[in-house]
Amino acid sequence: MALQRVAALAEVPEGGNKAFDACGKSVLLCRTAAGVFAVENMCSHALAHLEGGKVKGPHIFCPLHGVRFDMRTGEPNGTLTRKPITVFPVSVEGDDVLVELPDA
Ligand code: FES
Repeated sequence: MALQRVAALAEVPEGGNKAFDACGKSVLLCRTAAGVFAVENMCSHALAHLEGGKVKGPHIFCPLHGVRFDMRTGEPNGTLTRKPITVFPVSVEGDDVLVELPDA
């Protein structure tokens, strides 16, 4: 695992999310009142992009069918899928968002 700068915090809208390419993956950074989270930009249900999904607290809602995922654990809520999404450890240092990504 390598800690990598993925974006400037200012690039991620408050109360929203934005995807960035890092280590060959599309990493979705989400910024909510509960903090900054990093998840793989892919829903585990039908592989839609999660970018643009509504965020609330530590949760993101898939924009396609609305499954709610806990961005701390990746676990889904509801019956459409039981498969978690991939989540990454994240930290904010100054204006840099650092994400621990698997080695490419
Ligand atoms: S593709 Fe995300 S809930 Fe169906």
